[in-house]
Amino acid sequence: MRVLYITAELYPWVKSGGLGDVAAALPPALIAEGVDVRLLLAGFRGFLDVFPGITDIARLTSPFAGERVRVGLAPLPGSESFAYLVDHPAFYDRPGSPYAGPDGSDWPDNHRRFGLFGWIAAELARGADPGWRPDILHGHDWHTGLAPAYLAARPAVDGHVPTVFTVHNLAYRGPFPGAVFPELALPPEFFSIDGVEFFGMVSFIKAGLFYSDRLTTVSPTYAREIQTPAFGWGLDGLLRARAGVLTGILNGVDTRVWDPRHDAILPRPYGEGNAAAGKRAARAALQRRLGLEPIEGAPLFGTVSRLTPQKGLDLVLAGLPELVADGRQMALLGSGDSDLEQAFAAAAERYRGQVGVMIGYDESLAHLIIGGSDVILVPSRFEPCGLTQLYALRYGALPLVRRVGGLADTVVDATATSLAEGVATGFAFDDDSPSALMSAIARATALFREREIWQRMMRRAMTRDFSWAAAARQYAAVYRTLRPEPMG
Ligand code: ADP
Ligand code: GLC
Repeated sequence: MRVLYITAELYPWVKSGGLGDVAAALPPALIAEGVDVRLLLAGFRGFLDVFPGITDIARLTSPFAGERVRVGLAPLPGSESFAYLVDHPAFYDRPGSPYAGPDGSDWPDNHRRFGLFGWIAAELARGADPGWRPDILHGHDWHTGLAPAYLAARPAVDGHVPTVFTVHNLAYRGPFPGAVFPELALPPEFFSIDGVEFFGMVSFIKAGLFYSDRLTTVSPTYAREIQTPAFGWGLDGLLRARAGVLTGILNGVDTRVWDPRHDAILPRPYGEGNAAAGKRAARAALQRRLGLEPIEGAPLFGTVSRLTPQKGLDLVLAGLPELVADGRQMALLGSGDSDLEQAFAAAAERYRGQVGVMIGYDESLAHLIIGGSDVILVPSRFEPCGLTQLYALRYGALPLVRRVGGLADTVVDATATSLAEGVATGFAFDDDSPSALMSAIARATALFREREIWQRMMRRAMTRDFSWAAAARQYAAVYRTLRPEPMG
């Protein structure tokens, strides 16, 4: 079975969050399941510079302004698979993230940039590469939402190519003014409630949700939540109507990148057997790196995150005066909204030695924080899956999370019962309030002092299995509902 995996991000070259991690890990796991996967990427600067030997596959005339667009094929570095690249420098060879320029504002032609991306996916489904034609298109997030719409508008001549669409974050709906619709070269009737129209706008994610044959999202709880008004961003009605084709499949941990036993960034890599010593060394290195005092008897709380309202870190800011009491410390690495960046930078000044903050993006510091912290805070308002709490579990940094989405599905709150059963792996709270966060922090602090209980929780956390193989089996099962017969 051949699957075209369409993604805007791919770790380590182009990544703004977990989407890039997933694109690096899920395709190899699918290949191990026997699925023939190729990626479709936009020719962002981050890819063009590093991909070896891009060969010409097709030159297509874009439906927008009639430009010629080159589709190339390159072996994926470090993998047995290949990636198609939409090599259209006028659209993609720009500085900044895939979505925005260096000043942080979205590119004004994003509808055309990601429209073309989806259109090329549909062309590949229609046979643009005679040497490899996908049996299934699998798109991820709004950036790929128009692919199934273009395919619906002009199906392949010899039959429908089924489509799967995965929601990694419904909050990013890919909205554009309704006035751009004529530029997208879709049939006029597609601009309707049964189509890409969303309250007078064009929504790329709605296109993905409406036109795809199967929908998935990245945790079972988020699959239920997005069918409710509180988490549905106005799309809950459509998602309820499509509940029968929607599945929640948990993300996994890419152990090639996140494994404390073989993590060269840690001063002393560790497994369950020597976690205490390994973590002590990591914590000391982290304290030095962020200018924290070399305290040992109180927990060190860490966070690695995009700084957006989603992540609930304003609750941490509000709780900081109490958090740093009693010798507790906080280490944060993040970037994003400037008000949050400034507030955390100011907190680091104010609580010098107890709060260490690095504003920016830094893979190696991310590993040191996850390795060197006792607790990883993820107080998100919503969290489709969340990867940092999974990395934290594996590194024996117990996650303290808000009980939503994938956080609820992956962390077992320490209660009298879960502790007695030996299944507790972290801490969870419900209310969107600093006091709810702080009472969970107080519970964690109390247990931290019960060394034996804490170490039992660490062992349990480190041995939980969040493998991509399990996720790949579930995706392959979704594919098989669409293509029951094995294909050549
Ligand atoms: P989201 O995709 O919503 O940002 P996830 O938890 O799924 O949340 O994934 C976040 C990914 O991005 C993780 O790999 C995390 O380590 C990484 N990350 C987030 N912020 C930073 C940062 N400032 N520096 C390095 N890595 C970061
Ligand atoms: C999104 C979500 C995050 C998820 C990631 C990968 O960015 O915010 O919860 O883990 O996608 O699926």
